[in-house]
Amino acid sequence: MNELIIRQPDDLHIHLRDGDLMSLAVEHVSAQFQRAIVMPNLSLPVVSTTMAAKYRARILSSIPAGRTFSPLMTLYLTDRTTPAEIRAAKGSGFVYGVKYYPAGATTNSDSGVTDLSARYNVLAEMSKCGLPLLVHGEVTDKSVDIFDREKVFIDSVLSKIVTEFPELKVILEHITTSDAVDFVDSCSENVAATITAHHLLLNRNDLFKGGIKPHHYCLPILKRETHRLALVRAATSGSPKYFLGTDSAPHEKGTKEAACGCAGVYTSHAAMEFYAMAFESVGALDRLEGFTSHYGAKFYGLPLNEGYVKLIKNPQKIVDQYSYPGGVVVPFKAGETLDWCCTT
Ligand code: NCD
Ligand code: ZN
Repeated sequence: MNELIIRQPDDLHIHLRDGDLMSLAVEHVSAQFQRAIVMPNLSLPVVSTTMAAKYRARILSSIPAGRTFSPLMTLYLTDRTTPAEIRAAKGSGFVYGVKYYPAGATTNSDSGVTDLSARYNVLAEMSKCGLPLLVHGEVTDKSVDIFDREKVFIDSVLSKIVTEFPELKVILEHITTSDAVDFVDSCSENVAATITAHHLLLNRNDLFKGGIKPHHYCLPILKRETHRLALVRAATSGSPKYFLGTDSAPHEKGTKEAACGCAGVYTSHAAMEFYAMAFESVGALDRLEGFTSHYGAKFYGLPLNEGYVKLIKNPQKIVDQYSYPGGVVVPFKAGETLDWCCTT
């Protein structure tokens, strides 16, 4: 297949940052996607509907002229989030989910929840008003091996949440293991998962191929090949429980190429091309559109987008880096040539 026309996709998990870096991230995401679920982990986290409104306005003002793009906002769940804040979020019409970061799990997660069982009144309110819980699914106990943190989280935390709140919509974000796939498959239709392009294309060997590769370091960390294959099977299965969420997370080059480098892979510059590569690798391009453009929208109760994008076999070289006023970002597959090219 050399050409594919598919309904315009949504990115159901993205980090757009703020300030200088936001313009670059918004320029890239709005070139391919109609809507995106925007993560709230700014250095000052988005913990209220008022903050989300202001952040949304800043994003809207950085959309390039002539593009239509809708940021779908999220709130950052903290130990201080109240049921009243949940009602305000739902009532706003622009907040689409609440993100749960276990405190200390990843970039800018210091304000995350220390004890989720103390937030059950908040989860009950979310369940009642139909606001999904977006989950960073890793335990933070440093004695748990980093490659096991997702599975331990599912067994010790998430399984309890879905049992306690059967009506709560839950999205296990950026899944990385066959255990996550098995769990999501075993749950009701209220439980779904996003899958990133880089977790479909890389395994943990790619962190160390020929030397340490800081631009492949993200959280949850890449896992072994058997897990990658399970993710590819889930994404290409045609199950509406799995949909596109890039987790594209730009960091300035120097903060990744460092003695203590940041976690996050930047994929927004060619997200659809990366997913096309993954689906093509198993002969499943006919299933791409459901994953990129139907299932996520349906799960969030959104109408399908009206526009279309075109993927064509037309080699493109990824640049070595993107400049922005605060520095440079090294994109995923920098300097490599991709087979596919996505246009609107
Ligand atoms: C994300 C970031 O940089 O904000 N990093 C990452 O490795 N995925 C945070 C996150 O989603 O965990
Ligand atoms: Zn993320």
